[in-house]
Amino acid sequence: MSQPQQKVSPQVPPAPPGVLKKVRTAHLLQMKQAGRPITMVTAYDAPSGALADEAGMDVILVGDSVGMVVHGMETTLPVTVDMMVMHTQAVARGSHRTLIVTDLPFMSYQVSVEQALQTAGRIMKEGGCAAVKLETGSESILPTVRALVEAGIPVMGHIGLVPQSINALGGYRVQGRDPQDAEHMLRLAQLIEAAGAFAIVLEMIPAPLAERITRALRIPVIGIGAGPQCDGQVIVLHDVIGITEHPPRFARKYLDGRAGILRAFRKYARDVRERSFPGPDETIE
Ligand code: KIV
Repeated sequence: MSQPQQKVSPQVPPAPPGVLKKVRTAHLLQMKQAGRPITMVTAYDAPSGALADEAGMDVILVGDSVGMVVHGMETTLPVTVDMMVMHTQAVARGSHRTLIVTDLPFMSYQVSVEQALQTAGRIMKEGGCAAVKLETGSESILPTVRALVEAGIPVMGHIGLVPQSINALGGYRVQGRDPQDAEHMLRLAQLIEAAGAFAIVLEMIPAPLAERITRALRIPVIGIGAGPQCDGQVIVLHDVIGITEHPPRFARKYLDGRAGILRAFRKYARDVRERSFPGPDETIE
């Protein structure tokens, strides 16, 4: 007698750490097919990587947002390959189950296919990530995606609001409102899929367009400011934990980290000034 087919609930809770094997790109495709939302968060160091892992996150993005949220840069443009290697190494030391994807920083892959191969190869070899992400607004990226995939480097595309092109886009604004732009974005997403990418990030585009692209693609679509119908969501760590001073409208704060850290710092400074820290328990006799 045949067994009844097990239905996969879209609300399946994350497996406890240690139970699930390492997340691979193929698992994300299975999750899309099963209708299970994919969870992705940025992390930049060993503790945040370990916490994302322990929380059962599917994907960690070592984003070039590190330049802004960690290093205080105004944009992601000054971020270097050395920085991405170092932050990826730190995350990889903390996280052992979650799929780690690292951003290729500005001008480290756009010059030529060879440059992209060298950069992505170095970030994977030295950093320890399992895949790379690259931003684009144009079809000129397709040979690069194909070459990376052929070399065994899984690629996640990133379209819509692409922060590395902030100067060309003229600001952090919603992309794809214009019907022609929307058609271009859908076509570009399909071409990136055809070139071999295993997933695509859509940033800051209208939800109906994101839903259309999600339905049109076989590979998972991860949204950030792209509505609830994508196959998964990605968010910047500092926005989730409430450290960012001016978070984007589409982010949700799950912890008031800023207020908590300020309270702790002020209390510590007061205790030092009043000589109540260190106390007897914190003193070595
Ligand atoms: O660098 C980053 O954090 C990103 C996300 C915003 C998707 O690219």
